[in-house]
Amino acid sequence: MNSPAMQGLAINAPAHVKNAKLVAWVADMAALCKPDSIYWCDGSDDEYRRLCDQLVAAGTFKRLNPVKRPNSFLAVTDPSDVARVEDRTYICSSKKEDAGPTNNWMDPAEMRATLNPLFDGCMKGRTMYVVPFSMGPLGSPIAHIGIELSDSPYVAVNMKIMTRMGKGVYDVLGVDGEFVPCVHTVGAPLAAGQKDATAWPCNKTKYIVHYPETREIWSYGSGYGGNALLGKKCFALRIASTMGRDQGWLAEHMLILGVTNPQGKKYHVAAAFPSACGKTNFAMLIPPAGFDGWRVTTIGDDIAWVKPQADGTLRAINPEAGYFGVAPGTNTLTNPNCMASLDKDVIFTNVALTDDGDVWWEGMGDAPAHAIDWQGKDWTPQIAKETGAKAAHPNARFTVAATNNPALDPAWDDPKGVKIDAFIFGGRRSTTVPLVTEARNWTEGVYMAATMGSETTAAAFGQQGVVRRDPFAMLPFMGYNMSDYFQHWLNLGKKLQASGAKLPGIFCVNWFRKGDDGKFVWPGYGENMRVLKWMIDRLEGQARGTEHAFGVSPTYQELNWTGLNFSAEQFNTVTSIDKAAWQAELKLHEELFQQLAYHLPAELTATKAQIEQRLAA
Ligand code: GTP
Ligand code: SPV
Ligand code: MN
Repeated sequence: MNSPAMQGLAINAPAHVKNAKLVAWVADMAALCKPDSIYWCDGSDDEYRRLCDQLVAAGTFKRLNPVKRPNSFLAVTDPSDVARVEDRTYICSSKKEDAGPTNNWMDPAEMRATLNPLFDGCMKGRTMYVVPFSMGPLGSPIAHIGIELSDSPYVAVNMKIMTRMGKGVYDVLGVDGEFVPCVHTVGAPLAAGQKDATAWPCNKTKYIVHYPETREIWSYGSGYGGNALLGKKCFALRIASTMGRDQGWLAEHMLILGVTNPQGKKYHVAAAFPSACGKTNFAMLIPPAGFDGWRVTTIGDDIAWVKPQADGTLRAINPEAGYFGVAPGTNTLTNPNCMASLDKDVIFTNVALTDDGDVWWEGMGDAPAHAIDWQGKDWTPQIAKETGAKAAHPNARFTVAATNNPALDPAWDDPKGVKIDAFIFGGRRSTTVPLVTEARNWTEGVYMAATMGSETTAAAFGQQGVVRRDPFAMLPFMGYNMSDYFQHWLNLGKKLQASGAKLPGIFCVNWFRKGDDGKFVWPGYGENMRVLKWMIDRLEGQARGTEHAFGVSPTYQELNWTGLNFSAEQFNTVTSIDKAAWQAELKLHEELFQQLAYHLPAELTATKAQIEQRLAA
């Protein structure tokens, strides 16, 4: 490989960058990608402002009305680059079995041979941003460092919000510290003097590639979200899950919340829901009428790193520093804390622009008489009625710092993390799955999580609304063989049990059952507090519930109904167990288990047999 110096491009690493491996890697990548220049991000507010101004000048950002939405911007993407691309996401372990049947796999050498020509010259005409970031509090023993090289300034400014990004990372890294190298390109090189034809350059060809054994990430062709902000799904879930397998901890697609009762006792809950199924909402919940003195606080809204302690407890941290959340459906009634978080300092992506320079999305509230939709077209309620055109893309998102959240938990940044009292797993199911069920033991909880199904959402490119198995809400985010991951969970339970500690409760929820009219029966959002309270009662041994084939669910009387009109009949609609539907459901579990047969823990097959027996009885 020609050294960049030979091509006239100086690496110019700042004096505070003392890690020789890092400097050599940047030089190698620069030689391959051939950017016009290299910019080392320092993570300062001043730099953020400059990059945002530059994005405005390039047309990628529109500055929103500074009175209505101070220091906030709107980006709209290419219509082909609006979500994660699961079919273009690869786990390149040296053995195919280690990626497992749920992941796309390619031999690492073959993948490198595929990517090298694509990356050769991919940054021509652009700047390579060197983005140093920490997942987890800077310098904490549980945090891990990554360096993302990207030719997208949009990525650089989003990473500033989503991670602890900046110069301080180099101090932690020192001369020989470890980092996960992450290379990202939009895959749209420019010829000498050529200007971008679009404000959102990207490539039809996309590759989101992970090498778990060497802990490297290569991303090509997309500028959007989880495809491009490589600290998030690529690092904190796919690479981190393999680190967790090797080191005895868990990287999970979970929110973490604190819930404090009127007596001041605090519990911590980690909850896994598939993409766009309510994590951000649940993490910011405001208790409804009837819950005076209760308070919910946010530790994280998307990712949890969960580590067993010597005393047999589990402690969790949120490795992120911001939220990349779903905009549509968010409003001051469904999620007031989220709306308050979005008052200022926000990057919006793919929402609509109102005539007064503010933003709007479906489900935000009264529609404006006119707006520019996310594709730059005129939008009016009338046009929407006639053509079905959406003002905002269904996967439109906001990027905002956690510190904007009025419900932020004081311990959100604590390197020790918080002690987990319960895990929740929830899918989006219009039928079959009851509002809430507690597993009778750890193994049944793992079974519940492993067999979870959910209707697909706009968070991933492709068909929406079809039920697919999404074990642990990790299907798109697993860095290794799914069955080995089930085993890892089972082993962890055994280890905790051996130390004599009380294991966290495991619950399965479904906010999304629909009635004959096709509408959600359960009011959801803040009202989910009623279910959360029942879970705490269970932890405290204060609710007997009613036992059925899959576990324990509440009786109507056990939920606090103050301030909500919800009849026993409606309750029955969201909690009833339809035997035929469950027999069909168990066939789907069987299909999943056949797909995952390699290394599938025998305990899960045995649990299934027990459930079938109970159901038949
Ligand atoms: P990712 O960021 O994609 O991982 O998703 P998330 O799980 O954080 O999803 P989020 O909380 O942003 O919610 C996505 C959508 O689900 C929004 O449109 C919400 O309005 C809707 N939603 C959230 N909670 C509920 C609920 O309790 N009931 C109903 N019916 N919808 C909900
Ligand atoms: C998800 O899809 O689960 C997200 C959004 O949290 S993204 O970062 O794009 O993956
Ligand atoms: Mn997510």
